[in-house]
Amino acid sequence: MNREIFIAGTPDDLAREAARRFVEAAADARAQHGRFSVALSGGTGPRKLFELLAVAPYCHAVDWQSVHVFFADERFVPHDNQDSNMLLASQTLLNHVSIPAANIHPMPFSLSGPEDCASHYTKTLQLFFGDSKPEFDLILLGMGPDGHTASLFPGRPDYDGWVAAVHESPKPPPTRLTLTLNLINQARRIIFLVSGADKENMVSRIFISGEAGEPLPAANVIARQGSTEWLVDRAAGASLIEAGILDDGGSI
Ligand code: 6PG
Repeated sequence: MNREIFIAGTPDDLAREAARRFVEAAADARAQHGRFSVALSGGTGPRKLFELLAVAPYCHAVDWQSVHVFFADERFVPHDNQDSNMLLASQTLLNHVSIPAANIHPMPFSLSGPEDCASHYTKTLQLFFGDSKPEFDLILLGMGPDGHTASLFPGRPDYDGWVAAVHESPKPPPTRLTLTLNLINQARRIIFLVSGADKENMVSRIFISGEAGEPLPAANVIARQGSTEWLVDRAAGASLIEAGILDDGGSI
């Protein structure tokens, strides 16, 4: 299993480490195939990262013309709704950098319903990546205290296909769209941003007890051919530090 865990002191340290890795991933992808495809999530971790990427020195370190932004999940609300992940990304990052509008690929919201929008986003991915299964250069993920990630919640069956509609989400709002686990694990690089004491127990269950399986979607995210990097702040990683598995600033 190819997973790295990095303990980054405070949430601000974590955001700086994530920004450094984002810049590196963007440069690598551009050098390898001329463009950088990244899927964003919502939540507190991504928010801090986006705010940092929007300002110097990070905003000058990325060739935004070659960046293509997608979403790992989205709350099924209009894009101007305060709950929208697209709104979060726009207000904190996308409106502040020189990314072409055509390079931003939000998950759709339409009255035709979430299933229809999931199919529509699958077509968007097909158009961009071609017929082969999408391999994102980078997927950014958060994790909830219950082990959910993107909008993959514990106890739900595996979804088929690339994009799924999710109903009755335990985290509001109740209706969402998400990339499937199968597609996420196809990425070249996956970075988790996990901060806060409410995540400590779940970090311990995943990395000390070694739990996986259906109840813990985050534990099942492992890039099949790429790297899976967990950036965890001191509060979320306290049990790893106590168990002597990792020091502050350490990584395995
Ligand atoms: C969303 C998500 C979700 C989120 C986690 C962690 O709700 O839009 O993408 O998976 O990343 O719930 O959120 P926090 O970092 O706010 O705890």
